[in-house]
Amino acid sequence: MAVDLLLGLQWGDEGKGKIVDVLTKNYDIIARFQGGPNAGHTLEFDGIKHVLHTIPSGIFHKNAINVVGNGVVIDPVIFKKEIDNLKKFNLDIKTILLISRKAHLILPTHRLLDAASEAAKGKAKIGSTLKGIGPTYMDKTGRNGMRVGDLELDDWKEKYRSLANKHEAMINFYDVDIQYDLAELEADFFMAVKVLKELTFIDSEEYLYQAQKAGKKILAEGAQGSLLDIDFGTYPFVTSSNTTAAGACTGLGIAPNQIGGVKGIFKAYTTRVGSGPFPTELFDEDGETMGRVGNEFGATTGRPRRCGWLDLVALKYAVRINGVTELMMMKGDVLSGFKKLKVCTAYNYKGKKIEHLPFNIEAENVTPIYTEMDGWAEDLTKMETEAQFPKALKEYIAFLEKELEIPIKIVSVGPDRTQTIHR
Ligand code: IMP
Repeated sequence: MAVDLLLGLQWGDEGKGKIVDVLTKNYDIIARFQGGPNAGHTLEFDGIKHVLHTIPSGIFHKNAINVVGNGVVIDPVIFKKEIDNLKKFNLDIKTILLISRKAHLILPTHRLLDAASEAAKGKAKIGSTLKGIGPTYMDKTGRNGMRVGDLELDDWKEKYRSLANKHEAMINFYDVDIQYDLAELEADFFMAVKVLKELTFIDSEEYLYQAQKAGKKILAEGAQGSLLDIDFGTYPFVTSSNTTAAGACTGLGIAPNQIGGVKGIFKAYTTRVGSGPFPTELFDEDGETMGRVGNEFGATTGRPRRCGWLDLVALKYAVRINGVTELMMMKGDVLSGFKKLKVCTAYNYKGKKIEHLPFNIEAENVTPIYTEMDGWAEDLTKMETEAQFPKALKEYIAFLEKELEIPIKIVSVGPDRTQTIHR
């Protein structure tokens, strides 16, 4: 039984949380494979809006098992808050949420290091969510990290202490003014670890192997987006994990030949939060309208997202890197009311027209070349079938399918579960 993937194809915030929630009824297991609480997956149903950071988006379906894979980094403090927020839903968390022993832990000092590193960068800062993601993955690859399974060992506090001491020396190395009370942060951390230890830890690669053998259907849920991938994103303005399809293999222990369908999500326009190049970014009224109508504020940090037209050069790149087999277009409703829509179909790169994503897409090298299309005035949010779509939207979808050479199987017309049109 193959494992399907669900991945964001832009700079994150494409709406993965909503789609996983919609698709969960077709799966037995939802597994997160990378990232950490830098993610903010927003789900809306029955008039409730809920944001998840580390917990997979299948958690509200009582029959689905949710796995936090080895590739994820967990901050016990944020995890505890997430668990507390779920209490009102009366979920059997110990049964439906399983955590890989090999997932790495974000320590309070990782968060401080993130803050110190960003402050030291000045203008060159990445715009990190400051959740300690980079420093935690650095410790992972540097072979210094602490893992969830370490918490089951008697000497885990000694291991913690020695790592935290090292981090403190590193924080002092940065010549920046970071105010913190480590004793207070540690008190929260130790209390949260206690809660974490009450949950179910597993050898997730073995669990998923057995589940596959038993014919269970598994959906691997990505976080962030392909253009934030540590290798293939707009480096160094990226996150510290592989957000692309290959990350699901290393982040869950799934063999490449076990990958089935690759579902790629994109917004009908583009957004980005944090620093870094963004060729189709708008600084005018159109960008402002997208941000306002689309409620484009980071689900984790509340920062306003930068907005711009759809970039097909970047989207094609993401489709190829991930081997996308079907597409899902989100937030088409936000584009209602634009008389004309623009789609970037090529770049002017140092005076030459190119159609692939080059090494460097900073504004001084790249200007987008647009194809202009008619917009539509109709409100899409109450539409229930594709037949109700305005002609211009049908043309927009047909144009994208032709360019991307992949079918768009879902068009989302609003944040609620029910505002989802399957094609
Ligand atoms: P970090 O992963 O928190 O260090 O952030 C690195 C970059 O990725 C920054 O530009 C963040 O704004 C961006 N980023 C991280 N997580 C998300 C996400 O879930 N959605 C959108 N952008 C993200």
